[in-house]
Amino acid sequence: MKGRIIKGFSKLSLTEKRRLIAALCRWPGPTEQEMESYLAEDPATRKSFLELSENTISSFHVPFGIAPNVMVDGRVYHVPMAIEESSVIAAASHAARFWAERGGFTVKQVSTVKLGHVYFRWFTDPLFLHQHWDHIHLFLLDRLKKTTASMVRRGGGVLNLRLIDACGIMEKLYKLELEVDTVNSMGANFMNTCLEELAEGMEAYLAMNNHVKERRYQHIMSILSNYNENCRVTVEASCSLAELRPFAGNLSVDEFAEKIMLAYAIAEGDAYRAVTHNKGIMNGVDAVLMATGNDYRAAEAAAHAFAARDGVYRSLSSCRTVNGSLIISLTIPLAIGTVGGITNLHPLARLALEILGNPNARELMAIVASTGLASNFAALTSLVTTGIQKGHMRLHLSNILNSMNMNADSRKKAEEYFSGKKISYDAVKHFIDASAN
Ligand code: MEV
Repeated sequence: MKGRIIKGFSKLSLTEKRRLIAALCRWPGPTEQEMESYLAEDPATRKSFLELSENTISSFHVPFGIAPNVMVDGRVYHVPMAIEESSVIAAASHAARFWAERGGFTVKQVSTVKLGHVYFRWFTDPLFLHQHWDHIHLFLLDRLKKTTASMVRRGGGVLNLRLIDACGIMEKLYKLELEVDTVNSMGANFMNTCLEELAEGMEAYLAMNNHVKERRYQHIMSILSNYNENCRVTVEASCSLAELRPFAGNLSVDEFAEKIMLAYAIAEGDAYRAVTHNKGIMNGVDAVLMATGNDYRAAEAAAHAFAARDGVYRSLSSCRTVNGSLIISLTIPLAIGTVGGITNLHPLARLALEILGNPNARELMAIVASTGLASNFAALTSLVTTGIQKGHMRLHLSNILNSMNMNADSRKKAEEYFSGKKISYDAVKHFIDASAN
């Protein structure tokens, strides 16, 4: 066995954890001091980062930038994005400004409804469940009243509770499906509390008929679903074909528009392209979710399931022309919130929401989707004209030079030398070494 099993790591103090990890690294590895140096100076900020999760030894930094001028339903937002990938913010900003000057993005539909399930097995006559469902339903909803009272006061609450026969997935499998409007919160904790309460209620109801004692009922698990195609937002933007001139480069506007349409159509039919196309959307989406303290893993999982909802993985965005106008559109499931979770605990998430003017969840969904669509459009305009590498490479060179700790003079020389040339780490290293000799 290589490496050492560590026992009781979580019980060590912060300093002890760092010391142990530094001691286990091969020489010359990171030091305790280096790990500490990445923590915030301000004690309160440091504490809030350290306490967000477990076994923390330091803080991981990601650039926090702004894509200015994302216009949604006539209102301009300067959108915080947390992302390490170069070019994403620049590209989204460029496209956002273009669309802002043409009326911006409009929201076509938005819903904040969440889903969750109680999975159970039922080993006796299924008729019992169906015949008693009206009673069970009332009994369960009554039990939920106390938990959902404050959500109801905020304008949300239970919308539906269904019994679903899931025997097609597994013999004797059933589920309770709970549909809740969680308004401005993502509602994961709230949903899970409700679902666990439903499971207890189900058990209490069935206990009255000895079903539990006689093992005719087996609760398996209660959990929200991160896939809810109804909790989604659609945004669109349109401009006349002639207005696409700034993106067309050496192409005529008609040729550019044709190539853009073809690029969208390819992503609709070819999964290999659709995944990359959607990755370009998620560049914008995840960066805003990350900046605002939202769960981008949940959004990713849901987006890809939605992209494959008809059995073929397709693009999430589309493009069409109507009467001489180009219309781009994105529909994406987004279970996100502007209250609760880490939105109030993470200092930068709070800051990001303040920069956005403290939007509600629906507004944030629209801002996120618009930024995703701007990123997507920017990527496609590059792909069908200059190619993606041209813009990318300038920043790539800058990152390579940063990693080599170049001084301003050497940087300038390298930038001049590589202008218009292919850039790779080896080529830059070779140039730097040759200039030094
Ligand atoms: C790179 O992060 C994203 C792109 O590959 C997206 C796309 O191809 O549409 C440029």
